[in-house]
Amino acid sequence: MSKSYIPVIAIDGPSASGKGTVAQIVANNLGYHYLDSGALYRIVALAALEKGVDWQAEEAIAKLVPQLNIAFAQGEIYLNNSNVSERIRTEKIGQGASQVAAHPMVRLALVNLQHSFRQTPGLVADGRDMASVIFPDATVKIFLTATAEVRAERRYKQLVSKGQKADYQKILMDLQDRDARDTNRATSPLIPDPEASLLETSELTVEEAVNIVQATLLKNV
Ligand code: C5P
Repeated sequence: MSKSYIPVIAIDGPSASGKGTVAQIVANNLGYHYLDSGALYRIVALAALEKGVDWQAEEAIAKLVPQLNIAFAQGEIYLNNSNVSERIRTEKIGQGASQVAAHPMVRLALVNLQHSFRQTPGLVADGRDMASVIFPDATVKIFLTATAEVRAERRYKQLVSKGQKADYQKILMDLQDRDARDTNRATSPLIPDPEASLLETSELTVEEAVNIVQATLLKNV
C-alpha cells in the first residue's frame, strides 16, 4: 500500500496546549500509531548537551542526528538504549529543543525518521509542522491551542500533581519565550497551516477536544 493511503491526523500547536494528551488518546481510541515529534527535538537537544555540542552549532548537531538510536516502546522513550523519558521533559531541555529546532539542517535530518512512523492502520502526529511540512497530505489537520495563561496553568497543575516545585509566573514567561522563538523562526515557524481547523481548547475538557478531533476524521474519510 502506498504510504499516501495511510491516514494521518496532524495535530500542531504551541507548547503545553494539550495536543500531546489529545493526540495520544485519539491514537489509542483508533488503534493508530503515535508520533511525538517534539520528543525528537528534545532528544537531539539532550544528546548535544551530553556530547558537549553547543545548541547553536547547526552543522555539528545535524551530523549527530543519524548517529542517534531512538526508540519508542510502551510509552517510554529510549536514546541509545537508555530510558530518557523523564530527562527530556525538563524546562532546560525544552528550551534547548526549541533552539536546535530552529536550525534547517537539523529539521531536515529528522524528516525521514518522522515519515517512518506512517504505518497502517494510521498515524496521529503531534508537533509544530506536521500539517505544513512533514505530512502535507494529512487526512485531518488540526491546530490545537489555548491562551498562554491557560497553558501555563495546565503545566503548573501537572507539575504540582507530580509533587514537583512550580512557579506559575516563571512557567508563563518560559512558555511565552518558547512561543516567540517557535513563531518567529525562519524555517517551519509555528503558524497554522491554511488547511488546518483551529481548535481553541481554553474552555474545553480533554474529552471534548478528543471528540472534536475524531468527528473531524469521520468527516474527512
Ligand atoms: O512539543 P514539545 O514542547 O515537546 O517540543 C519541544 C520543542 O521542539 C518546541 O518548542 C519546538 O521548538 C520544537 N518542535 C518543532 N517542531 C516540531 C515539534 C517540536 O520545532 N514538529
